[in-house]
Amino acid sequence: MLPTITWENDVVVMIDQRKLPQKEVYLKLRSVEQVALAIENMTIRGAPAIGLAAAYGLALATHQVKSEKNLDETFEKAYERLWRTRPTARNLFWALERMKRVFNKNRKQGLEALKDVLLAEAKKMDMEDLAMNMKIGEYGQRLVSDGDTILTHCNAGGLATAGYGTALGVIRAAVAHGKRIKVLSDETRPLLQGARLTCWELQREGIPVTLITDNMAGYLMKKGEISLVVVGADRIALNGDTANKIGTYSAAILAREHHLPFYVAAPLSTFDFSIKTGEAIPIEERQSNEVRKIGGKLITVADIQVRNPAFDVTPARLISGIITEHGLLRPPFGPAIKKIAGG
Ligand code: MRU
Repeated sequence: MLPTITWENDVVVMIDQRKLPQKEVYLKLRSVEQVALAIENMTIRGAPAIGLAAAYGLALATHQVKSEKNLDETFEKAYERLWRTRPTARNLFWALERMKRVFNKNRKQGLEALKDVLLAEAKKMDMEDLAMNMKIGEYGQRLVSDGDTILTHCNAGGLATAGYGTALGVIRAAVAHGKRIKVLSDETRPLLQGARLTCWELQREGIPVTLITDNMAGYLMKKGEISLVVVGADRIALNGDTANKIGTYSAAILAREHHLPFYVAAPLSTFDFSIKTGEAIPIEERQSNEVRKIGGKLITVADIQVRNPAFDVTPARLISGIITEHGLLRPPFGPAIKKIAGG
C-alpha cells in the first residue's frame, strides 16, 4: 500500500509527489502553514488525499496549542487557511467540515481531550478512505472483462487517496480477480500526473501500463485498442456532472464517439449535494509557468500568454456509470445520487 500521508511523532509525513518517479522523498510537515503550502504546490494532490491532508493539518494545529485560551482562534485560523488552498475538490471542504463538527461536539472536553479526538478523527478518515476505495474497486472490477484495455487520465490512484485509489482501485481489483488487463495512461499535461504517478504506481505493482500523450487516445480508440475509460473525480454535482483533471471531458467525448463505456470512480466524499449541476463547480486556474515549462524547463516563449484551467466538467450525459462505495450508479444520476445522499 502506498504511504500517501501519515502521522508520526506529532508531525504530518507525506511523500513528495512533485519528485516522483525520480525520487522517493518523504517530507515532515511541522505546521499547518506547511501543510497548506503542500496542498497548494501539489506536494500532495488528488481529491481524497487533499481532504486527508486538511484533516491531519487541523489535528496538527490543535496539537500545537499550548493554552486553552488560544484553542478556538488557532483552530479557526487553521480551518480558514486550509479552506483557501485549492477550490475544486469537494473532499477538501468535506474533510474540513467534518473535523469542525467533531471539534464543536467535543469542545467542552478541553484542550488535551480535543487533541486526541481530532487526531483520532483524521486517522479514522484515512482508514475509511482506504476501505471505501476497496469497495469501489470491488464494484468497479465487475465492469472490466478479461483482456480489456483501460484508458485512465491523471492519477486517481493510491497517491491521490489513502493508498488504494478510485480509478486505479478498479484496475487493482480487476487484476486481483485474475483479469488480464492492460492500462493506457494519459500523460496529463501540464503537471504529468499520468506519466509521473500513474505509470509509477502501476509499474511497481507489475500491472501492464503503457504511456500515451493526451492527444493519442482518439486514434487508439478508432483502431479498437481501448475497451473502456475509467477516471476519478474532484467534485460531482447532484445531476452527475463531474469535475476532474483537465482533459477528462475530451476523453469522455472521444469515448462517446467511439461507443466506449466511460466510468467515473469516486467516494461519497467527492459528491457535492448542494449544487444542482456542474455549472456551479469552481474551476481552479493555476500558474502560467506550469504550461510554459515541463519539468521546470521552459518549452516556449518566456512571456507567452497562457491559460491553465486545472479541471473541466464532464456532463452527466457522457458518463456511463459512477462507481461508488455504495455500488454502481447508472443514469439518470439525479435520483440515484439523491438516494445515496439519504434524501
Ligand atoms: O490537480 P490534481 O492532481 O489534484 O487533480 C487530481 C485529479 O483530477 C484526480 O483525477 C482526482 O482528484 C481523483 S483522485 C482519486
